[in-house]
Amino acid sequence: MKLVLREIEKNFGEKKVLKNASFVFEKGKIYGLLGRNGAGKTTLFNCISGDMKCDNGSVTLYDEIDCEHELDYSNIGFVFSQPSLPEFLTGYEFLKFFIDINIDKISNLLTIDEYFNMVKIDEDDRYRLIKGYSHGMKNKIQMLCFLITRPQIILLDEPLTSFDVVVALQIKNLLKEIKTDHIIIFSTHILQLATDLCDEIVVLNNGILEELDNDILDSKDFEDRIMDILKEERDA
Ligand SMILES: Nc1ncnc2c1ncn2[C@@H]1O[C@H](COP(=O)(O)OP(=O)(O)OP(=O)(O)O)[C@@H](O)[C@H]1O
Ligand SMILES: [Mg+2]
Repeated sequence: MKLVLREIEKNFGEKKVLKNASFVFEKGKIYGLLGRNGAGKTTLFNCISGDMKCDNGSVTLYDEIDCEHELDYSNIGFVFSQPSLPEFLTGYEFLKFFIDINIDKISNLLTIDEYFNMVKIDEDDRYRLIKGYSHGMKNKIQMLCFLITRPQIILLDEPLTSFDVVVALQIKNLLKEIKTDHIIIFSTHILQLATDLCDEIVVLNNGILEELDNDILDSKDFEDRIMDILKEERDA
């Protein structure tokens, strides 16, 4: 399975954010998307997920036998950096509701408590209103949504920054465990995370996507080299 972006363009008025961004993302890999503030990472995710319409270009999916398909947006899990959840439900009620409406998409359904255990949400908190949850707890609930439905494409917009170290490590391991069945694209500003977790690093700069050579990932001066690339391209 491959997710193919072809010459994606997105403008906001005069501002050209994505300019012919093309890339092929493959199943089984975790892609780290790096780019400076305002580079267009969230915009790119919105274009892939269908939350925003791009001005030009296409996003298509190729299946295992290389047949091209239009994207089925219900097959995309998008974890926003700012979680948006119904605050008037308890975590438990929300997960129950989420499972009910997605039941036909779920294989290997676990119990709600097993899902809560996966992300270490305490028993007491499960029955509290989401309104009172911390940012990290809300992010955990968002993560659970894709862990429950396991969409083919998982977009994570700076998801791990609000997690405590224990949960961040757990989620990293979970992502590594499930990656063989998914295309996972992960935006982050934390270089350490990118090197730990990602198989490929993709840089978004000046509106285009570029893959970094894997030897940069392994190199000792990775951080310096990334800094140079991001600085150079913005200033160019
Ligand atoms: N709905 C919108 N209307 C107008 N401009 C927008 C809109 N969404 C994004 N932009 C602009 O597009 C550019 C890219 O924004 P985007 O949020 O995609 O960047 P980002 O790479 O996700 O940044 P960050 O690292 O800060 O999250 C910015 O200049 C932003 O102001
Ligand atoms: Mg963003």
